[in-house]
Amino acid sequence: MKKDQLWGGRFEGEPSDLLRAFNDSFAFDVQLFAEDVEESVAWTRALERAGVLTADESKRIVEGLNSVGAAFRPPGGLKPAATPDYEDVHSYIEAKLRDAIGPLAGKLHTGRSRNDQVATDLKLWLKRACDEAIANIRAVAKELANRAKEEAATPMPGYTHSKQAEPITFGHWCLAYCEMLVRDVDRLESAKKRGDECPLGSGALAGTPLSVDRDALAKSLGFSRATANSIDAVSDRDFAAEYLFCASLLLSHLSRLAEDLIFVTSDEAGYAELPDAMATGSSRMPQKKNPDVLELVRGHAGRAIGELTGLLAVMKGIPLAYDKDLQLDKEPLFRMRATLAVALPAIAALIAGLKVNHDRMRAAAQGPMLIATAVADAMAAKGTPFREAHERVSRDLASIDKLAKEYGVTLESILTKKNCFGGTAPERVKEAAARMFAQLSSRA
Ligand code: ARG
Repeated sequence: MKKDQLWGGRFEGEPSDLLRAFNDSFAFDVQLFAEDVEESVAWTRALERAGVLTADESKRIVEGLNSVGAAFRPPGGLKPAATPDYEDVHSYIEAKLRDAIGPLAGKLHTGRSRNDQVATDLKLWLKRACDEAIANIRAVAKELANRAKEEAATPMPGYTHSKQAEPITFGHWCLAYCEMLVRDVDRLESAKKRGDECPLGSGALAGTPLSVDRDALAKSLGFSRATANSIDAVSDRDFAAEYLFCASLLLSHLSRLAEDLIFVTSDEAGYAELPDAMATGSSRMPQKKNPDVLELVRGHAGRAIGELTGLLAVMKGIPLAYDKDLQLDKEPLFRMRATLAVALPAIAALIAGLKVNHDRMRAAAQGPMLIATAVADAMAAKGTPFREAHERVSRDLASIDKLAKEYGVTLESILTKKNCFGGTAPERVKEAAARMFAQLSSRA
């Protein structure tokens, strides 16, 4: 049996290298290092309260765990590549604890299983991943709300079916994305609430035989409550799936934003220009300024949806309770958090630095196609049935400018009239931007 292996008594000889290469998870689950130390400290204290450890033993284990936590906390010193000889982060920490305090380390795992341990670590990690995403999403939404305030009255062409439809304001467009992002924040918060239950004390699947106060244990780790069923607790990965869903939907929103901005900043539209710092050049074509950040966001949305469906497919056939398939839940989560941590600040910086070309936006917004509906509305306001007005305008599109003059329709009048709640009138957009700021600041 290998020195630091957590099992092996009934086995003869060493595990095969082939098994190790396939089975070990240390190379990636080392990312749960901080959570595993924290969870182990809480378990030690729970063992003390349950009378399993003496106060002195508990103190020595906690001190040992803290020293392991401090000495090997990434990114300071921990180099998984240099210490490949561990099955997983749990055996790694227990081995380091044994180096620090000797055989007493062997008491830490009393009444605990890696099944309730890893489920707890992961939930702690997911809560942090949600908080990090929420803060970064808010920052993006704030940049958009800021642009909305500045550009509340900036006309731009609005599209349906990628065809020029009606004029809107650039501020209104910015706030449309804010609404999506606010829902994304809300979704992450509610996923966090559902995931806020502590599996520790569920043992391998049937519960722990020790008289551990699971509720106090849950609270000591910052959870609201303990999970109510030990079988479910060790095999449930709903929080992981919900996190991936929230991230996929968030990235889908950002992908739409990216797609819009790729068009808005295209040579053809030219309604805005990317900030230099957030664009890339071509090694071959000297004139190019490419929207790589936006294209990567669009690509990551596709990959995120794949990660979500991948996890759901892993989960759907797993018999109760724990099965090793569950080890595959981690890498997509780690990738997703790392992606969001760079994508969201990049998008925020790009939006903050976007240079709006007001002249081109305005010129495009008052094109004949965009004012046609307002001319039909003006005719209807003077008593022509709307259906008839629609027909006349559509047959007379070539002289739309003349008709617009006759009915007193201007770009400004079109925008001002969209004054309903939720409409694009500059006054409404100003109010909406202020409301959005208040909403984003109130829960920050
Ligand atoms: N590396 C495992 C995982 O991520 C830890 C739990 C192992 N449990 C077990 N019964 N082998 O799921």
